[in-house]
Amino acid sequence: MTTQTVIITGGATGLGYAIAKVFLHNQANVILNGRTFSKLETAARKLDQPDRIYLVAGDITDPAFAPKLVDEAVSRFGRVNVLINNAGIFAVKPFTEYGIGELDQYLNYVRGTFALTQEVVKQMRGQGDGGAIINIGTILTFHASQSIPASAPIMAKAAITAMAKNLSFDLAEDRIRINTIAPGIVPTPLHGELTQETLDYLDRQHPLGRVGTPKDIADAVLYLANASWVTGVILPVDGGIAAGGDGFNNRKQAA
Ligand SMILES: NC(=O)c1ccc[n+]([C@@H]2O[C@H](COP(=O)([O-])OP(=O)(O)OC[C@H]3O[C@@H](n4cnc5c(N)ncnc54)[C@H](OP(=O)(O)O)[C@@H]3O)[C@@H](O)[C@H]2O)c1
Repeated sequence: MTTQTVIITGGATGLGYAIAKVFLHNQANVILNGRTFSKLETAARKLDQPDRIYLVAGDITDPAFAPKLVDEAVSRFGRVNVLINNAGIFAVKPFTEYGIGELDQYLNYVRGTFALTQEVVKQMRGQGDGGAIINIGTILTFHASQSIPASAPIMAKAAITAMAKNLSFDLAEDRIRINTIAPGIVPTPLHGELTQETLDYLDRQHPLGRVGTPKDIADAVLYLANASWVTGVILPVDGGIAAGGDGFNNRKQAA
């Protein structure tokens, strides 16, 4: 089997870092992207696979960065087999407090994801042996939570989730698969420091009684990267929220 080359946006911390770890464990080459080079360097040191990691700093919300990222990946490892559209930002805010500029900030991630996915698809089509694209969405797109008002970031996540569904048909004849993971809540730097009280509360929002770990998500990404008969899927990895009931807010405090 040929070695997979995987581009991970937002790969220095949180979910992206865990995704890099599982792919490296599976002998893949990893292009690690993020805006801050020092954070990428710290991640690479911890991952400790210098021959199979290549760092490319840059802002994925800039569409002009997309061809550069793909060119760098191809110059270093010769090909791109998997793209993980993971980079993102998130803040909780009541609807009427968002400025339109803030909405644009989130929507710029849609523009960047669009541009990077286009570049990767062109590269994969040229290679001629298929590929896999995985978007990191959120379960909040499908199950709102009274305690997590986040209309602007959710609009952006909904857009990339819909793009994946639509593209799955477009790309199928080239055997390029595109899927979305919809995570529940996973404590990462995205959430800042969480108090024990908040963590206990968040645990109870998930039917399985706990928040996720970055590895919970990374294992699902690895599955989708290799699931050769799966495309156009939205896979909740969310401790059971998508199963139904009241979704968020449904687990009673343990006696
Ligand atoms: N954690 C959760 O509960 C959760 C739930 C659902 C979905 N998600 C999604 O999962 C993804 C990863 O989040 P996380 O929890 O792992 O957060 P995180 O630890 O903050 O990681 C996000 C990474 O993305 C990078 N990044 C942000 N904007 C970027 C940009 N414009 N260009 C390139 N890199 C950028 C950041 O590094 P720099 O600042 O150095 O660029 C950071 O390393 C996000 O899309 C998030 O919305 C997370």
